Order: sequence, then structure tokens, then C-alpha cells
Amino acid sequence: MVKSEKIPTVSGWHFRIKLSAVAVFRDPSFFSLNGGWQADGKGPSIWDTFCLEKGRVFGEQNGDEACNSYELWEKDLECIQQLGLTHYRLSFSWARLLPDGTTRHVNQKGVQYYNKVIDDLLACDVSPMVTLYHFDLPQALQDQGGWKSAGTATLFNDYAKFCFQTFGDRVKLWITVNEPYVCAKLGHEDGLHAPGIKEPGVAAYLVGHNMLRAHAMAWHSYNSFYRTKQKGAVSLAINSDWLEASVAGCAEDVAATERQLAFTLGWFAWPVFVTGDYPKIMRSAIDAQSEKFGRSGGSRLPSFSKDEPAVLGTADFFALNYYTSRKVEAGGGCGEVLSMKSDRDARDVLDPSWPICGVSWLAVVPHGLRKLLKYIKDTFNNPAVYITENGFSQVGQLQIEDVQRSEFYKDTILEVAKAIQEDGVNVRGYFAWSLLDNFEWADGFSVRFGLFHVDFADARRGRTIYRSGREYAKIISKFQCGQ
Ligand code: NOJ
Repeated sequence: MVKSEKIPTVSGWHFRIKLSAVAVFRDPSFFSLNGGWQADGKGPSIWDTFCLEKGRVFGEQNGDEACNSYELWEKDLECIQQLGLTHYRLSFSWARLLPDGTTRHVNQKGVQYYNKVIDDLLACDVSPMVTLYHFDLPQALQDQGGWKSAGTATLFNDYAKFCFQTFGDRVKLWITVNEPYVCAKLGHEDGLHAPGIKEPGVAAYLVGHNMLRAHAMAWHSYNSFYRTKQKGAVSLAINSDWLEASVAGCAEDVAATERQLAFTLGWFAWPVFVTGDYPKIMRSAIDAQSEKFGRSGGSRLPSFSKDEPAVLGTADFFALNYYTSRKVEAGGGCGEVLSMKSDRDARDVLDPSWPICGVSWLAVVPHGLRKLLKYIKDTFNNPAVYITENGFSQVGQLQIEDVQRSEFYKDTILEVAKAIQEDGVNVRGYFAWSLLDNFEWADGFSVRFGLFHVDFADARRGRTIYRSGREYAKIISKFQCGQ
């Protein structure tokens, strides 16, 4: 947890920055195959189904056991303590608590499991931040239309209320939906994530809309029925890269950058923090293309109904998942008027001076986080910010002595500190992604984000601290002591 208390500089660190860091764990154990998904009454999720489809996940891998945090939770707790964390972000599995997605049937074993995790954390002085939805919709709800169906938002609200009621006496930080952009775009436009739908230009907007409705309903439920007694805070985790015009003086690149920001960060942040509706640039760009979709009379981007709980103002803090930065090109030369071919019509490019880590999409740009934080401060009226994810991946040859990742954490956390001290951004916490190497969605186990290595080839799933884990522990202790 980063606290913006300023204290005198000691040995180069300018802040008393308390890092609550860390890691998200998303309950990847006991997935589908081998009947294991039925263990202790968990229902199947859309990721269980997706993993069974050929060609969806790297090497046909699956999350049947993954890092097996379900059975090895005590080992995870040891890792958490070894790092000296003050906070831990974890994700509940909706289908573990409510196997068919509805409150008609509660899986008590799932409740016991999460109760134990929460109680163990608190006993060790670690505060939990809980994410209610992290990509894994109960399959039973997908069978009824999934996030394309308006009713899923109502069922999510029931699930959220159930969680607030059951765990809210101890959990004070809640994330409703993790990365709605990724669920909408990768899951329903590109077909790269579960449920693997490819309906460009239509489904993603509907899914994003229903996720915002779901979030808003849950926030209002918390606000009306639980806040006074439980005194917690609720938000949604929005992912965004930092984007910059490829050529700073090129009006077309600048416009393309604004459009691109509107279609990523703005898509979810604007309705919640600014107007209660989508960014104007986004709506007009979509409307301009509507004829291609045979909808010349209306927009493919839904509107919020006045009869439903308002989406504006439904965040007690800004939760940001930041990984990388991009330069944006309009596509033609500067000064050329382009006719738009698609809704966002812009090209993201990588600055060749930025090193790439592991996966192709992940350029290492710590200073981009500082710029994005400043942008968030200026655009969204200086909200309290939690960086709910930030990390560095490793692929190929295993490196336990991962010097580059260690440097990455130092550099990035220093940028966060500058954002607090020099730019006045109200950063309250930083969570590294992630505690353990784990199932990295469509990349399976080929991409490793952990501060601890997990031996997936061995049934015991041994955890070994990386050098970056040791360094991270040192950074945290330095910041906490103000040294
Ligand atoms: C964001 C997602 O929330 C997380 O589950 C994922 O593993 C990381 N990005 C890295 O890709």
C-alpha cells in the first residue's frame, strides 16, 4: 500500500511509501478435466469449457490444477509472509461459491475455503482486496446468454450482495469486475479469451455495457445496505496502456491517440467517473461506421437507462491495471484526411527504444505509469488510486535470478513514488502481478509473471522465490521504513 505521507529523505528514497503489494491469485485450481472441477462442489466456468476446445490455449494446457492454490493455500500464505506484504489481492471464483451462478444454491465448501483464506490473511496482518469477477463466468450463465444478456448483470448483483453479506465484515476493499475491456474485446470480439466469441463491432459493446451495469448495481447495493456497517470501498479494475501520439506535432496522430484512449480507458472510466455515459468521441466514431453493420438508424453502443441505478459516481477509488505503453499512428501521413475503416482506426506501435519482456505486447515502460497516473489525476478529478496490477513476464528459459524483472520493479515503484511526490497523484496502493507463476489464460503456463516460480512439472507444485521476489521484499521494507 502506497501511502502519500511525505517524510524526510533517507538514502535516496523520497517517500514513506507503504507497499501493500501484492499479488493476485485467481483461484485457478480445480478446473475442468479429470472430473476435478467438481471437487468440493465447484461448478464449471467458461474457462473450463474454453480450455477443452482444441487450439484455444497454448499447448492445449488447462487450469485443472494450475498452481493448486486450492490445496496449497498455506504455502501461498508462507510466500506472502516471506515478502512481508501488507495487502493481498485475490479473486473469488463465482462458480465455486454459486455453482450455477445463482444464489438458489450456495456451495458451503466454497464459502469455507474463502473464509479460511480471509481469516488466515487477517491473522497474519495482511488485508485482503477481493475481486468478484476475474474472467470466469459460471458456464450455466453462459448457457443462458452470458454477458450479452442483460439478466447476467442482475445475477452478478445477487452474487455481489451474497459476498458482501458473507465476507464483508472482514473484507474492506472490493473490486467488482476485473478488466471489463479484456472480457468484452478479447472474449467477444477477438475470440481469444473465453467464451471465444468473434462478433466484431457488436458483441463487445453489449458485453461492456452489461458489465458496467453489473458493477453499478453492485456498488449501489454496497452503498445502500452494507457501507455504513462494513465501512469498505468498492470499485472496478480498469486496464489501460499509456498512449502517446507517434509524432507529437501530427494532428492526425494526436486525434487517433485520443480516440484510442476513449476506446480503452474512456470506455469504462468515462461513464463511472465523468458523465454517466460513454466518451463522445467513442460514440460518434461508432455511429459513423454503423451503416456497415446494417444499423444506420441506431448506435451499436447501448445507452444507459434512466430507470436503472446510475453508473456515474459508482467508484470509491480508481483501480488501475497498468502493464505497458504504446505510440499511436493514425495510419496515413500527417495532414492527410483519412476515411475511417473501423470504429477506432488507429495503429499502435512500439517505440524501438523500449525493451520487450516475454510476450510481444509487453514493452517495459515504467515512466508510462507515471504519465498515466497524472492523466488519471487530471481527467478524473484526482481520485484515490490503487494500482491493482503491474508486472513483468518471463517466457522460454527459466531464470530464477531474474535481474531484469528486479530492475523493473525498482524502476516502476520509483515512478509511482514520483507520481505521488512530484505530481501529487493520490496513489494509495500498489499490487504486483503476481505472487506466483500461474495459468496465464490463452498463454497457459508458457508465460510467467510470478515473484515465486511454480514447478508445474511436479505434482507438488513447489514454490521457489525469484531474485525479483527477494528484491521486491527489500523494496517494500525500505519504503515502509522510509529508508
Ligand atoms: C491482467 C489480468 O487481470 C491477469 O489475469 C493477467 O494474468 C495479467 N493481465 C497478465 O496478462
